[in-house]
Amino acid sequence: MTLSTSSRVVVPGGALRGELRPPPDKSITHRAVFLSSLAQGTSRIVRPLSADDCERSAEAFRTLGISIETNPEGDWIVVGRGLYGLREPRADHLYCGNSGTTLRLVSGVLAGQPFSTKLMGDKSLSGRPMARVVDPLTAMGADITARKGCYAPLRIHGRRPLRAVEWISPVASAQVKSCVLLAGLYADGVTTVEEPLRSRDHTERMMAAAGVRLTVDERRVSVQGGPSLKPQDWVVPSDISSAAFFMVGALLAPGSELMLRGVNTNPTRDGIVEVLEKMGAGIQRERSLVSGGEPVTDLLIRHRGLKGVTFGADIMPRLVDEVPILALAATQAQGVTEIRGAAELRVKESDRLAHIARGLSKMGARIDELPDGLRIEGPTPLRGARLDSAGDHRLAMTFAVAGLIAEGETEIANADCVEISFPTFWEDLERVRVQS
Ligand code: S3P
Repeated sequence: MTLSTSSRVVVPGGALRGELRPPPDKSITHRAVFLSSLAQGTSRIVRPLSADDCERSAEAFRTLGISIETNPEGDWIVVGRGLYGLREPRADHLYCGNSGTTLRLVSGVLAGQPFSTKLMGDKSLSGRPMARVVDPLTAMGADITARKGCYAPLRIHGRRPLRAVEWISPVASAQVKSCVLLAGLYADGVTTVEEPLRSRDHTERMMAAAGVRLTVDERRVSVQGGPSLKPQDWVVPSDISSAAFFMVGALLAPGSELMLRGVNTNPTRDGIVEVLEKMGAGIQRERSLVSGGEPVTDLLIRHRGLKGVTFGADIMPRLVDEVPILALAATQAQGVTEIRGAAELRVKESDRLAHIARGLSKMGARIDELPDGLRIEGPTPLRGARLDSAGDHRLAMTFAVAGLIAEGETEIANADCVEISFPTFWEDLERVRVQS
């Protein structure tokens, strides 16, 4: 997808009512594509996230010789060729678009291939740090060249087998952990990755389901090389990171009562619920079950006054993608909210700390940018403004929710980037919005 300069106008007012099934989980869809492609036989991905980011992973594996097709029900059917069945791409490079998950995870797979591949991304992805994956893969024996400063494009000359290593990652990152674990499948022994705080654990859950021998000890995960992966039917739950916009929208818009169906409440992802509850939110868990190895819950959210809170590094991996929308919630909360330990946000799809501070200030919020976070004083009434998403999907959606509760219209430039993770965002917002 090429991101157009399309803009959207959000007219304020209305409550969010009724129910919504937020889109399928982005992280799980990526991993289902990876593990299905490396399994021997046919897998089915039920309710995949058919959005730009996950399409990049599917396209990467098609280029590596894997058949991935959509059936009439909308499932993705992946015919895996086993761990050693990928083909050298005929194309000059694999294009990862805006997707850090695609680029970092596929690097782990390519490190174990007997050929060389070039990886490219869009402007945002080309500015994101890659040393965090290049370093461990180099230690495992891959030969990788990167643009000066260790940025994409990367060229990966694989090696088979890779050396099994024990990698102590300086960042808590599921992308790094997953990259090393995927490379570990091609290693000559047990590969271990340790992170400073536990990041989302979908890779561990899904590898175990596919029959990979894996041990998890809190912040350390070890994988045995050379397994044979079993094809699966993966059922993808709704993404809590997408649900987050509607959770906060319903809390902030007076008169709201919104049921969010089938949300993945994996304990490594549910930090937003914990923080919102500390802020005084009423979030009712209506029905919990386990689907596809992941906890799934219906969440009922009602409009409620909030109070400021402080949260930091400890909880950050559990809500890393939700900081922009939590910052918006904080502008409407009574008192001071301080978000610390969030320096990673500067190297996401954009520098999210800078853009969120700039955008919400423009709307009248009292928000200071800190080196590793934000300090917000609330409540402040917001006024409509002209904002730019900077091509960052999570900023576009945060600004849209801000526009709902602002006085006057909000215009968001580059609003099409919601396609990256939540293609139906604008329709869904209008569908559950009720003017009183
Ligand atoms: C993701 C991990 C997180 C998150 C990203 C998706 C994943 O990134 O921000 O949206 O699917 O592994 P980091 O691993 O860089 O923290």
